[in-house]
Amino acid sequence: EDVKAMEPAYTKAHEAVMEMRKTGIMAGHLSKDGEPEAVLFPQLPYIVEGNINNPERIMAMEELARQVRNRVDAVVFFGIGGSYLGGKVLFDVQCGEFWNLKSTEARKGYPKAFFAGNNVDSHKVSGLIEFLKADSAAKSGYTVMGVVISKSGSTIEPMSNYMVVRQAMEDAGIKFETVAVTDPHEGEKETLLHGLARKSGWPIFYVPDGVGGRFSVFSEVGLLVGALVGFDIRQFLAGARDMDKACQNPDIWQNPALLNSVLKYISGAKYGRDLEVLMPYADSLKSLSEWYIQLLAESLGKRLDKQGNVVNYGRTPIVAVGTTDMHAQTQEHQEGPKDKVVQFVSIANWKDDVVVPHMYDEYPKLAAFSGLPLSSILEAARSSNAEALIGDGRPNANYILPELTPYHLGEVMFMLCLSIAYEGEFANVDAFNQPGVEVYKKFLGGRLKKLQEG
Ligand code: PA5
Repeated sequence: EDVKAMEPAYTKAHEAVMEMRKTGIMAGHLSKDGEPEAVLFPQLPYIVEGNINNPERIMAMEELARQVRNRVDAVVFFGIGGSYLGGKVLFDVQCGEFWNLKSTEARKGYPKAFFAGNNVDSHKVSGLIEFLKADSAAKSGYTVMGVVISKSGSTIEPMSNYMVVRQAMEDAGIKFETVAVTDPHEGEKETLLHGLARKSGWPIFYVPDGVGGRFSVFSEVGLLVGALVGFDIRQFLAGARDMDKACQNPDIWQNPALLNSVLKYISGAKYGRDLEVLMPYADSLKSLSEWYIQLLAESLGKRLDKQGNVVNYGRTPIVAVGTTDMHAQTQEHQEGPKDKVVQFVSIANWKDDVVVPHMYDEYPKLAAFSGLPLSSILEAARSSNAEALIGDGRPNANYILPELTPYHLGEVMFMLCLSIAYEGEFANVDAFNQPGVEVYKKFLGGRLKKLQEG
């Protein structure tokens, strides 16, 4: 009944998103300077001549990956927010936790990979420098590649870390190369990073116009990270493309993003479920949840609606991982305030499933799960969690990925992007700006100036 009552609103939202797909125009979206601005992320999955991810750009990324393979020993990605979170998901899904401990052969010649630039944390960056120095001692000609990802081209965290790491590598006599990913414009609108890259002859990859950080995983921002560790970027885009096609269906029961967004909107607007737990049942998808935090929080957390009225809209995102957080957060999800909607993500078929051996069958408590694949224990835990929540009228849903592949990852990430675009329309907020982050930046600028003045 609730979904039915929303039919006029979701039909209108669907039409607005269809229009955005065709023309890049989302009514009511304004840039930082208050000017109408295109929203082009729906074009990203399509590899089309003249389009954003045109065939040459895809080939350029694949070519860099070929050059890096068996030549570069370690790559360090410097980026933050939208210039970090999406790429980290691709890395985690492709490489897993132990990538940097594997041999070069096991990594198929792809480099070790690190992320430094998503904070200004001396302990972390010192640890990285120490590691790279020690690692390079074992190999002559050891080469580190820094990939600096910044749309605006001068963000404090990535740029400061880049300067620190590069200086340390040069001081230690370690070969260091740089690649930049930034805004494509030259001339008046050229970013500092773009100018530096041009003058220094670094390869440059692009953050396209009309694509905000939180939607940029399907652009060179995320794809380059994937390409450099052997992730299949074409399959990732194919998954996004197929999801985009499915979501062009006006029938809500055939359009996963529309249905998902409507259910979550109703949960919040009608039933006060203003917090959203994204809880994948897979360690390697924790970063999917971290990526989604930004997507949801920056897109929908808005003081003003599109007409300028104060609405203070938003749903607070919460990162959780199953089963880990069943031993930490579930108590509160089950018995705390009824203010949450819980979104699970599960994988139907695990390619490297492991079976618990029959080691202690004389102990009934251990025999209860001996002989079972870990994936079936995981799914039993997830469905038990869902059943317990349902028993107390607590809404939850599950996205099932048939397998954890680039294709299905592309599907689910694109579905989440579209779902957020739809909800922006129901909530009547601009899902594509982020005026709130400008406020602290003004204070930070003043404080840094004072620090420089001593
Ligand atoms: O979504 C956003 O716009 C932000 O999270 C940015 O991606 C983040 O601040 C990094 O900005 P930049 O890529 O300009 O360095």
